[in-house]
Amino acid sequence: MCGIIGISSSKPVVNNIISSLKKLEYRGYDSAGIATFSDKFIDEVKCEGRVGKLEKIVSKKSLKGIVGIGHVRWATHGVPNEINAHPHSSDRVSVVHNGIIENSTILKKILEKKGYQFKSQTDTEVITILLTENLKNNKLLVAVQKTLEKLHGSYALAILCKDNPDLIVGARRGSPLAVGYGHNENYLGSDSYALKSMTNKISYLDDGDICILKKDSAEFYNSKGKKINKKILTMSETEDNYDKGDFKTFMQKEIFEQPNSVKSCINEYVDHLRDDINIYNFPWDITKIDSVVLIGCGTAYHACMVAKYWIEELTSLEVAIDIASEFRYKRNKFKNNCIYIFVSQSGETADTFAALELCKKNKMKTLSVVNVVESSIARNSNFVLPIHCGAEICVASTKAFLGQMLVLYVLILKISSLRGDIKKKDYEAKIKLLKKLPEAIRNTLSTESEMEEISDIFSEAKGSMFLGRGYSYPIAMEGALKLKELCYVHAEGYPAGEMKHGPLALIESGMPVVIIAPRDKYYEKTLSNMQEVIARGAKVLFISNKSKDEISSDNVWKKIEVEKTSDELLPFLLTIPLQLLAFYAAKNKGYDIDKPRNLAKSVTVE
Ligand code: G6P
Repeated sequence: MCGIIGISSSKPVVNNIISSLKKLEYRGYDSAGIATFSDKFIDEVKCEGRVGKLEKIVSKKSLKGIVGIGHVRWATHGVPNEINAHPHSSDRVSVVHNGIIENSTILKKILEKKGYQFKSQTDTEVITILLTENLKNNKLLVAVQKTLEKLHGSYALAILCKDNPDLIVGARRGSPLAVGYGHNENYLGSDSYALKSMTNKISYLDDGDICILKKDSAEFYNSKGKKINKKILTMSETEDNYDKGDFKTFMQKEIFEQPNSVKSCINEYVDHLRDDINIYNFPWDITKIDSVVLIGCGTAYHACMVAKYWIEELTSLEVAIDIASEFRYKRNKFKNNCIYIFVSQSGETADTFAALELCKKNKMKTLSVVNVVESSIARNSNFVLPIHCGAEICVASTKAFLGQMLVLYVLILKISSLRGDIKKKDYEAKIKLLKKLPEAIRNTLSTESEMEEISDIFSEAKGSMFLGRGYSYPIAMEGALKLKELCYVHAEGYPAGEMKHGPLALIESGMPVVIIAPRDKYYEKTLSNMQEVIARGAKVLFISNKSKDEISSDNVWKKIEVEKTSDELLPFLLTIPLQLLAFYAAKNKGYDIDKPRNLAKSVTVE
């Protein structure tokens, strides 16, 4: 995690660094810092807390530097405080870092023996000191190379060096770093988002690359020290919408954008005139594929879980799913006739990226489902299917989850039709229904006021459970995750049928339990599981879909009904009230909904 910005310009850079840091806050927001050159000094300002606080402190100083670096932190080594905030500086260099230096303890001991003293508890300060030591006898580039050779782990770095006040050094291994090209100024950023308001021309560093950035040039060297050229890419849009509009939080805005984001995504993949799905340039003969593995983290993993049910239901393919941090280290049986699908909103999640790299190394077929098309995961996959939902700012994912499910659903439907696993008539009927999904989502958003009313029970609870079967099981997991991350209440998502094997012991009088039981083939079974928790005192919030038949239980505390649609499309609708529940439960507590404690949106450490 952590966000990095660097600017080399002919005019003062502090304001642009601060506004880029605000955009990067989704990568970390426990502390922030900035360093710029002024005459022969490096001016440094750091603080615990948000960029807003840093901005106030900076406004009282006069940082006139025309070359500078900035950082937002998500703590790995050392508590979030001013001392541990980046940059970490010596009398010669100032360093900001994203990643983890795994051998920092050993290096620190070696450097301490040489007489160096450390101020912070961070792994990053080791880079500062090691580089300072190497600069004693080497020119800048060689000193940087010698320093990087000694580091184990991952890094994206931006470095100021007192003896070279016109430049910034950038380096990457394992954590992304981009260079942006402007008019008489150039930029370094931990992703293209940070640079979008300043330029749409960018190059990406590859692992092992170093760059020397000046206001009018960017030189690149690969891991062998050879000077290399980089492709300059033009980004798709120049600026994303970072405005909350009429909403007070990005989360609420993003929840309410879902009818439109789903519609835009459908417009990208579903033929307007015919009931067909267009996926152009699909690189493999799908009839020769016999299995699919889906990989993701967090909410993206829940989208993979839903997709597994769709693949089992709609195709003859074998399917497996994995959490990226597990997949990357276990012994996988790689298969040539398999497509490995990586699901990630940001496209930068370190574990998912490492899982992709592992598949690439084993020459596997890779496909990514991402929101950020310029991301590392997208750039390194054989084939990319974007989710087209626009920038998602709130740390907790909402519209991207629906987008991920949607793209996976259209992909699966298309595969099913191309393989002859589904009848043409059924395929077309499913697409017809899919076209109605945005409207069904819009109508389901009307559950907002009921969810607001119910939410205080969840805010105050010691713990809660979310239960479902079939498609509703991953949705229960996602509902529980949303409540945990936003409201800091223990919430467990569980397959309803598994309760009797342990978790039932947790149920006590008054405990809120969400039962997700649409009228699908599991309905009756889930109702029985619901009675089992009611009998033990649970307060049941029952979520189903509209139907002419009444919901049959009088013992239910509250009932919520989403719109009618096919069983396959219900996950999209059942998610909506759960998003609203977590949103209002966190709002009741006065928490920072867009930036929950301890978390970050783009998780670029493992
Ligand atoms: C973080 C975010 C989650 C997200 C997960 C995976 O934990 O807070 O909302 O689901 O990362 O992110 P990705 O960008 O790979 O979808």
